[in-house]
Amino acid sequence: MDKPLRKAIFAGSFDPITNGHLDIIFRASKLFDELQIGVLINPNKKGLFTLEERVKLIELCTKELDNIKIISFQGLLVNYCAENGISTLVRGVRSEDDVNYELQMAHMNKELNSDIETIFLPTNKKYSFVSSSLIKEVLSFGADVTNFVPVEVLEELEKKTK
Ligand code: PNS
Repeated sequence: MDKPLRKAIFAGSFDPITNGHLDIIFRASKLFDELQIGVLINPNKKGLFTLEERVKLIELCTKELDNIKIISFQGLLVNYCAENGISTLVRGVRSEDDVNYELQMAHMNKELNSDIETIFLPTNKKYSFVSSSLIKEVLSFGADVTNFVPVEVLEELEKKTK
């Protein structure tokens, strides 16, 4: 009998995708047969890019990976997982502050569906201070964010913030 596919999802707001996210995507894609990238609305964050734009940017930056699928949906992440045979949630962790927020979400997700596990991947040290929100903030004051986002994203960010 064929072994079931090991499927995971890396969900986030990706507004926009950063080099830190990309690092997690490339590493996590090696750990699973299929890695889905879930582009979701976080009601606590104000969006700059539309969901469609975020998906498009992720597609452009991950062309060389052949076991990923980029999706977008509304609703509970664990429900999407249960409906799509996904057993693992992947989250990147940059700092101690992240751990508190991430643990809270992991515990809530476990409470909502005990079959689904969360795994944390430590972010590459060189991106430990990089977040989409900070990038948008410093860029709005004219800072150079070339080192923090893929080139495709840089172009779109510059257009949006001009
Ligand atoms: O990149 P973010 O904003 O930290 O990602 C948070 C996200 C989008 C993964 C989280 O808000 C989420 O899972 N949203 C979907 C709705 C849901 O399941 N909420 C319960 C989370 S415990």
